[in-house]
Amino acid sequence: MRSRRFEALDKRSVNLDGYINEWPEMGFVAMHSPYDPEPSVKVENGVIVELDGKKREDFDFLDQFIADYAIHIDRAEEMMKIPSLEIARKVVDISVSRKEVLRICSGITPAKMTQVMGYLNVVEMMMGMQKMRARKMPSNQAHITNLKDDPVQLAADAAEGSFRGFAEEETTMGVARYAPFNAMALLIGSQCGRPGTLTQCSSEEATELELGIRGLTTYAETVSVYGTEQVFVDGDDTPYSKAFLNSAYASRGLKVRFTSGAGSEVLMGNAEKKSMLYLECRCLYVTKGAGSQGTQNGSVSCIGIPGSVPAGIREVLGENLVAAMLGLECASSNDQSFSNSPMRRTARTMLQFLPGTDFIFSGYAAEPNYDNMFAGSNFDAEDFDDYNVLQRDMQVDGGLRPVKEEEVIAVRRKAAKAVQAVFRYLGLTEITDEQVERVVYAHGSHDTLNRDVPADLMAAEEMLKRGVTGIDVVRALAESGFEDLAQSILNMLKQRVIGDYMQTSAILNRDFHVLSGVNTPNDYQGPGTGYRVEGERWEEIKKIPHIIDPNQV
Ligand code: 5AD
Ligand code: CA
Repeated sequence: MRSRRFEALDKRSVNLDGYINEWPEMGFVAMHSPYDPEPSVKVENGVIVELDGKKREDFDFLDQFIADYAIHIDRAEEMMKIPSLEIARKVVDISVSRKEVLRICSGITPAKMTQVMGYLNVVEMMMGMQKMRARKMPSNQAHITNLKDDPVQLAADAAEGSFRGFAEEETTMGVARYAPFNAMALLIGSQCGRPGTLTQCSSEEATELELGIRGLTTYAETVSVYGTEQVFVDGDDTPYSKAFLNSAYASRGLKVRFTSGAGSEVLMGNAEKKSMLYLECRCLYVTKGAGSQGTQNGSVSCIGIPGSVPAGIREVLGENLVAAMLGLECASSNDQSFSNSPMRRTARTMLQFLPGTDFIFSGYAAEPNYDNMFAGSNFDAEDFDDYNVLQRDMQVDGGLRPVKEEEVIAVRRKAAKAVQAVFRYLGLTEITDEQVERVVYAHGSHDTLNRDVPADLMAAEEMLKRGVTGIDVVRALAESGFEDLAQSILNMLKQRVIGDYMQTSAILNRDFHVLSGVNTPNDYQGPGTGYRVEGERWEEIKKIPHIIDPNQV
């Protein structure tokens, strides 16, 4: 006979998730594998000749790239002598500055970094993140997608998203050939909600680069790197090819960050028996060595793998913290639904939400999850009010703000009409008034009209063939009565020439001023220092809907 208690527990959503015992031989191990190397470094004539127990002649291409480009060679032997426990304590110690920790970490190896993390529990990691995050104030990134790749809905959701506070917005497609439309709709919509919002369109590498060069996007993010040579090779890539791609974007003034995270090597069957954390450390050193200003990490799309093993979610925060300790901007994932349990989903996000990271979500679904073409996010549009209340409950800045229904309807309408006007001006596909109105009031694509997909795809292709660029969008808007939007997009294009927003962890405020790890660096060093939620921002966070006003009762 079965216990009723256990029957009830078995039915809980948490028991729909997948769990596995540690299995280091296949890479199912979070923080430490018995096969992880011991930290070591040897320098001869200014060259690293031994790295984490391996001699230079035995290096694979990651070891070589890391040894040559990612470690401060002159400091390496000195910093490697500091015991890992002592470094871990400095991470937590408020009397040790972020700068000092960065200086030490610039000289230590991936295996040493893994060992340092092993000494930190999650609360200590959060304390570390609070101090080590690059930018003084945290921010947030949204996914803007829908099942129909409807450009009108993309623009409206982008407008609402940036109005709600997202500093970056990214899209991807259900049908890859929609990319030029998605990129353009996102660019227009984002500037409607809040000028200065950065946008990207995640697609196949050549297309993504081309859209960037044309000025239809303002950053690139999904430059993936992996922790073992075989997984890199399976993707026809090397650290060198990724460094080259990074430079291609940077040479045209686009902000770039790389992507990596626990579990990718396990999923691709080549983890070399190493822990997820050690492999991710290697990825982050490659990212730094390639000259990228930052990373989107924290397992990202592979979260089911670390989520299935003991201490897996601790590892995810650990890898976010490693990024920060290497001086990289960290967009800290939370961008894939990894659990059936709402409690578990929320708990996982609190690890980045409470200390604050450069981007707490590297993809909050700003649409219902059924419209999320990145395969669902950990939080979505139906969680906006929960999120706003969490900010208010804890007096924490999660990058969003409560908004009024009539204001949202207005920015959605403006964005939808602007896209309609640009499509008309550029002779693309027809967008009807009814389509606009349906989108303005829609929650998701279940509430909108269908598009003529073959006509859209032909026009999108045509748009690329005709060489349409960001400047054409500016002209179309200016000549259709959307001068302010035209000016915002022109300002975004100017940023590409100025280049300041390529600095570590840069975002733009509504006046197109850069806020980054360089001009607004995180200066947290204990109570009374660093970023505090106060003043106007606190008043804004407090204004949730459905509230009792004591002055009105
Ligand atoms: N490692 C490397 N790249 C990843 N991406 C997502 N998760 C990872 C990971 N763990 C990249 C892929 C994907 C995009 C959303 O981000 O390119 O398509
Ligand atoms: Ca993202």
